[in-house]
Amino acid sequence: MSRLAVVTGGSRGIGRAVAQLLASRGCRVVVVSRDLEAGRAAVASLDGGDHVALSCDVGQEQEVKSTFEKIRKTYGKISYLVNSAGVNRDGLLLRQSSSVMRSLLEVNLLGSMLTCKAALPGLMHTPGAALLNIGSVVGVKGRAGQSVYSASKSGLEGFTRSLAKEVASRGVRVNMLVPGFIRTDMTAGLQEWSSLPPIPLGRVGEVEEVAQAALFLLLSPYVTGQTLLVDGGISLNM
Ligand SMILES: NC(=O)c1ccc[n+]([C@@H]2O[C@H](COP(=O)([O-])OP(=O)(O)OC[C@H]3O[C@@H](n4cnc5c(N)ncnc54)[C@H](OP(=O)(O)O)[C@@H]3O)[C@@H](O)[C@H]2O)c1
Repeated sequence: MSRLAVVTGGSRGIGRAVAQLLASRGCRVVVVSRDLEAGRAAVASLDGGDHVALSCDVGQEQEVKSTFEKIRKTYGKISYLVNSAGVNRDGLLLRQSSSVMRSLLEVNLLGSMLTCKAALPGLMHTPGAALLNIGSVVGVKGRAGQSVYSASKSGLEGFTRSLAKEVASRGVRVNMLVPGFIRTDMTAGLQEWSSLPPIPLGRVGEVEEVAQAALFLLLSPYVTGQTLLVDGGISLNM
């Protein structure tokens, strides 16, 4: 029987590439995003015909609860949850409004907590189950103009490690994947690639390269509570 994988932020970018790779490995994939049409378009491009798109704002507790309830009742037990839904708004702290701060924390940090909480009861009864949160090299190293985004991602790192300790005895693994600078819609507006620290591998990353590492963390049965940087080495220079 094929495994069920839920990918938040699966309609675009890194999440979409993870959804594609999981589908190509025989998983049935539920793509979660706010924009249902974009989710459906992503689902239509996946290998196999059994995938589903659902609309849900991961920062809204009731939406998350009802979405995961629907998944449980309609599609069965989740084996993998990948939290790729995320937003970014650059700005110096002195110019950042509290509403922007809240929205970054709500989606990037609270959103992943809510989806993990909603998925866990089912995951605990599924052999080989795994959670994967997507952080950022900015959360690990910090970067001027991204203090709030960075806080949301380093918070997620502590959450991931602690949750790994909480649920290891129940057979659920929890890991974190930390991309560097990857070519997606999120980085399309980045004007000054040249202002980044030098990337030892000499180029920005592609979503498929992040997806490969995500698959490794989801499938490795003896890896939990870990943070894997997929950044072309940029963290060495930050
Ligand atoms: N690209 C990079 O260089 C980079 C580097 C480090 C870390 N990351 C992290 O990697 C993850 C994916 O980034 P990306 O570059 O692939 O971004 P992206 O291309 O902008 O895609 C973001 C995805 O998240 C979904 N999303 C955003 N807010 C949501 C919400 N409230 N509820 C549900 N879904 C939501 C979007 O769909 P809707 O808009 O339809 O909701 C979309 O599917 C993010 O967590 C990001 O912080 C990216």
